[in-house]
Amino acid sequence: ELEFFFPTQQTVAVVKPNALSEKENIVKKIEESGFKVSLSKEQQLTKEIAEQLYADHKDSEFFNELTDFMSSGPSLFMVLTREDAVMGWRALMGPTDPEEAKQSQPESLRALFGEDKLKNAVHGSSNVENAAKIIPVVFGEEAIATDNNEDETQQQ
Ligand code: TYD
Repeated sequence: ELEFFFPTQQTVAVVKPNALSEKENIVKKIEESGFKVSLSKEQQLTKEIAEQLYADHKDSEFFNELTDFMSSGPSLFMVLTREDAVMGWRALMGPTDPEEAKQSQPESLRALFGEDKLKNAVHGSSNVENAAKIIPVVFGEEAIATDNNEDETQQQ
């Protein structure tokens, strides 16, 4: 029997404004999938921080609509810790377009809670570097040190 090991990572998960009313259901699915919610904070983003969160998309046609939407109401920000957290969280979210998600990944969060490509319920970092950049912006500089000091072992 082969076993594969992935490094423990942190990723940033966001319940977008349109899905905040479903936050309990979403957090339950996150925990059932073996993630530890290391940090959690409900916050309405400023337009400026929304622009930092989506900095990689600043040249895209939907950047303004996206950052307007993300600053339109409170979101739930979480730091998730698990083996292979970045890819694992993206898998749980499902495809960007909820219509596609309903076809190919009907159990994914975007299939269950997404409305359209913009209001697709959840966000996840695309890599560990992006996660590390946005954590201190949302949670404060002390978040990094606090989080690294935790020595709990992740149970899958
Ligand atoms: P993207 O990085 O392509 O997807 P993901 O969120 O799965 O990483 O896009 C980032 C966000 O931009 C997406 O969650 C919602 C918004 N967006 C639109 O509003 N319209 C679009 O056509 C696309 C592709 C994305």
